[in-house]
Amino acid sequence: MRIMVTGAGGPAGVCVIKSLTAMRNRDGSRLYKTIVGVDTNPLGSGLYLSDEALLAPRVDTKDFIHLMLKLAKKARVSMIIPTVEEELIHFARNMDIFEKAGIVVTVSNAKSLLASNDKLKTYRHFRGKRFCPEIYSNSTVKFPAAIKPMDSRGGRGFFKVENRDELKTLLARNDREFGKGKSLIMEFVPGVEYSTYGISDLKGKALAVVPVKRLEAHGTSTKAQIVRNSKVEKVAKEIAESLGLQGPWNVQLMESGSDVKLIEVNPRFAGTVILPDHAGIHFPHLTIKLFLGQRILGKELKCRMGVYMTRYSEEKILAPNQIVS
Ligand SMILES: Nc1ncnc2c1ncn2[C@@H]1O[C@H](COP(=O)(O)OP(=O)(O)O)[C@@H](O)[C@H]1O
Ligand SMILES: [Mg+2]
Repeated sequence: MRIMVTGAGGPAGVCVIKSLTAMRNRDGSRLYKTIVGVDTNPLGSGLYLSDEALLAPRVDTKDFIHLMLKLAKKARVSMIIPTVEEELIHFARNMDIFEKAGIVVTVSNAKSLLASNDKLKTYRHFRGKRFCPEIYSNSTVKFPAAIKPMDSRGGRGFFKVENRDELKTLLARNDREFGKGKSLIMEFVPGVEYSTYGISDLKGKALAVVPVKRLEAHGTSTKAQIVRNSKVEKVAKEIAESLGLQGPWNVQLMESGSDVKLIEVNPRFAGTVILPDHAGIHFPHLTIKLFLGQRILGKELKCRMGVYMTRYSEEKILAPNQIVS
């Protein structure tokens, strides 16, 4: 089976490629023979971890979907695994075009994507729930507060603000960088941060959730541990199911005193989703099975607790003629 992974240079893309190229049959041979990595950047690192690599159109290109379809046909893939947040909604709205071409795209439905990608929409969806942090306006704000863009990633534009002066300065800064009025003001939630990795079936039922405690983060987690936390697991599943997510998801939560509070939902693979692979649960493989309508066994959803991850960077050194063009 030939599979395309988009965003091959991003953290999630790299994890998916590493995971799928490592999957083995009983006899030691590769389970997925050909992973085609695609990225808009010819130096996207995951391109050089894939079996084949191609340059992808930017998601803001007019005709993005048709260009992707053309690319998928050229690469002769029967599945596309998108890992770039901005791409997801385009794929979700054009599933039929790919289906007609015999290509399965592992993406959730448009409605749940829209409610997850925009942080304000997500919080509004859960307004009144105990796990939902308070959203403030300029007049109702209580300090310390947090501000962050409604649509961002890697912690960009997130600030803890202690008073009105800071709020004004940092909101103005975010307005310049992310657009006027594109940041939200909310309750600052102190505590221990969990990133949960989960997967739901095509009916939206959560099949598994792995809670990962963040020990250090620079955008994505650099040090982390899989830790059982039934409260966190329960809230994560409730959130994913309420949003109707299908396939892989990542719900980030804060354990704050006796409460668990929602930080954000990513309706896709997280940038650290390789960690559960090393604890026995292979989310990219499960995602493929799910979208192919194959039965997932109970033992495939089991995960060993306690496993740590400490992350470092590694280089790929390339001659000019090796660069994807
Ligand atoms: N309300 C909040 N209170 C405390 N910390 C927060 C809050 N919102 C976000 N954070 C911190 O900022 C980080 C980035 O915020 P997040 O909502 O996950 O956005 P991003 O899409 O950039 O990952 C989180 O991992 C968390 O550490
Ligand atoms: Mg986050």
